[in-house]
Amino acid sequence: MGTACCTNRSSVRVADVQNIPQHPKENRSIDSNQHELLRRQKSQLFQSEGADSTFIEISTPRTGKLIKWKRGDLIGEGAYAKVYQCLNIETGELFAVKHFTLSDDIKKIEREFYNMKKEVSLLRDLNHKNIIKYYQTELSEDLNCIDVMLEYIPGGSLKQILQKYHHLEETIIKSYGKQLLEGLGYLHANGIVHRDLKSANVLISTKGVVKLTDFGSSKKFEDLDEQLSKSLKGSPYWMAPEVVRREGHTFSADIWSFGCLLIEMFNGSPPWSNYSRNAKEVLRMISAPDNFPDIPEQCSNSLHDLICKCLKRNPLARPTAKEILNHEFFVTDENLHDNSSTGLIG
Ligand SMILES: Nc1ncnc2c1ncn2[C@@H]1O[C@H](COP(=O)(O)OP(=O)(O)O)[C@@H](O)[C@H]1O
Ligand SMILES: [Mg+2]
Repeated sequence: MGTACCTNRSSVRVADVQNIPQHPKENRSIDSNQHELLRRQKSQLFQSEGADSTFIEISTPRTGKLIKWKRGDLIGEGAYAKVYQCLNIETGELFAVKHFTLSDDIKKIEREFYNMKKEVSLLRDLNHKNIIKYYQTELSEDLNCIDVMLEYIPGGSLKQILQKYHHLEETIIKSYGKQLLEGLGYLHANGIVHRDLKSANVLISTKGVVKLTDFGSSKKFEDLDEQLSKSLKGSPYWMAPEVVRREGHTFSADIWSFGCLLIEMFNGSPPWSNYSRNAKEVLRMISAPDNFPDIPEQCSNSLHDLICKCLKRNPLARPTAKEILNHEFFVTDENLHDNSSTGLIG
């Protein structure tokens, strides 16, 4: 059992800037002055309107009522956060909490806070069976940590499944792939590019239901005429050539990553990983003109064809998520696991 236990709304409110003590002791050490200054800067930052909303605005619980909870075991860790299981102390329900520890440098904190706010403001508006459900966000009383509460998926990530079972049969790839496309299609229809699609960001419930998670790199295109994004976002093995080359990317970058995920599910490891484990080297291979990842030879003709279609170097030549759902790989097998028809729940 961990330490965090948030039992009332006041314990998570952002402190009022005016209420912070103004250097009460004359002989205070430099360390404590710096600490105080940082606390003041953080407090101001959390109340600022940066990225369209203050922290208080985004921290309104989705259900309208703040969930009181206790932290449990560590269940996962990504590049930015640690994820713990947690217990609703009023109802006994289990949740997951994504725990961000802020740096101790205000410039870094600004970036971390901006990214976290972006992730939460995207996630809280999403409502789809194949996308992780968001509940609430809280700031710790000492202003050092932020906890984002999510639906708990006991099966863990697809990466963990691949580590245990090494590779998947095509029937499972069809089931997971179809559900991923449903989630991705919903995101794209709402103007959102995920930008970090990979097995560690795909969760699998005990009933085999797929939940897309980690919107920390995602971007919402408010206006479809908006300029293509040129930022380098994502994880090397799954990155589309136009992302690596910073030529401007949009929804079709997720389709490339989906193709990489199909390879990863079939082989048990992502494309390019058989050549190099060095990120720079992988990025160099992806960006080299006319370079393609190896496509598994033992897979069915329809899976082979689908992977080739997703991995077109020209982003405009790739199919959309909706079009892929009509590809023969997904439509030929009548016994496909379809969570909408079997009434499975996460
Ligand atoms: N809701 C959840 N239920 C169960 N496990 C989760 C959940 N969210 C994340 N995890 C686990 O934690 C890991 C890291 O989470 P993620 O949101 O991807 O963090 P980061 O943004 O740091 O990459 C995931 O790969 C997964 O193993
Ligand atoms: Mg992640």
